[in-house]
Amino acid sequence: MHVLITGGAGFIGSHLSLLALEQGHRVTVIDNLNQGVKENIPNSAQFVYGDILQPEHWIDKVDPVDVVIHLAAQISVPFAERDPLEDLRLNAEGTLKMLLSAKRLGAKQFRLASSAAVYGNESRLPLKEDLSVNPIAFYGWSKYLAERYVLHFAELHDVEAVIFRLANVYGPRQRTQGEGGVIAVFCEALAQNRRLEIHGDGAQTRDFVYAKDVARAFLHRLAEPGPAGVYNVCTETPTSVRELAAFLARLAQKDEADFRLAPTRAGDIHDSVLSRRKAERWGFTAMTPLAEGLALTWKYFLDQQFLK
Ligand SMILES: NC(=O)c1ccc[n+]([C@@H]2O[C@H](COP(=O)([O-])OP(=O)(O)OC[C@H]3O[C@@H](n4cnc5c(N)ncnc54)[C@H](O)[C@@H]3O)[C@@H](O)[C@H]2O)c1
Repeated sequence: MHVLITGGAGFIGSHLSLLALEQGHRVTVIDNLNQGVKENIPNSAQFVYGDILQPEHWIDKVDPVDVVIHLAAQISVPFAERDPLEDLRLNAEGTLKMLLSAKRLGAKQFRLASSAAVYGNESRLPLKEDLSVNPIAFYGWSKYLAERYVLHFAELHDVEAVIFRLANVYGPRQRTQGEGGVIAVFCEALAQNRRLEIHGDGAQTRDFVYAKDVARAFLHRLAEPGPAGVYNVCTETPTSVRELAAFLARLAQKDEADFRLAPTRAGDIHDSVLSRRKAERWGFTAMTPLAEGLALTWKYFLDQQFLK
């Protein structure tokens, strides 16, 4: 199949492009390199530089496609709180423009990267897809609006749509600046022999899912997706930030994690774990054990240190 990946120069997009090529698909990447880097795009993928908000500048350079996988987004929660209009433009209007572009390119399928942020501070764990959503930040709302646009558009235009609510994704090539994932930030600090900083008491838990598993989810059942649906991509396994620090410190061959506690960040949810049951009924399970994913991620950050 010809797969168009927006945001393919980013963290998750880099894993997805690689796996799609490995599975024998033809891959075209659209990215404006705002956050992503060209080196993340595999050589055998076609790269078309472009902004999702301005498809008129790049659409004629793309051959007809079978599937659009839409990852390009504004992903920072604090940025969205500071500039909710720009967040809305990139995440909601950007998705709508990609839906219209997908139609022009003849795509029969559209897949969206959404987020566990749509659930907000929900105490009924693990979070199931049929819970009513209640985001606590603009980012969660713009992602939810994007979900609704995709489902409505799919119904109207007979497109097969799948939406993935991603838990906390980690793996090689994740950024550490800005709102970097905690695993990437810890790995970089350990590789540079810096002290870790834990916000809050460190007992807060997250559901960490390995980037390659997320890539597998996006490519799952392309031949036969079934009815439009929303699926969590997660492990349903809570891990506390302190446990994470201790595990990574052992990988870095330190006796114990050296960390200092910092104030809780505004808007941080204490516990987040998602239900994997619906995705499993759809035939998808995240397979990478945390220990294995962390070892691969640690190796990547350690190697990066030597490359500097
Ligand atoms: N990383 C996570 O833990 C996580 C969790 C939940 C959801 N998600 C979602 O997954 C998707 C990918 O996230 P990521 O972590 O790989 O982020 P990322 O920032 O590494 O990748 C996003 C990519 O989109 C590109 N991009 C941004 N704005 C663009 C625009 N206007 N036009 C074209 N390209 C643009 C960036 O340059 C970047 O390459 C996002 O939709 C994000 O909301 C990520």
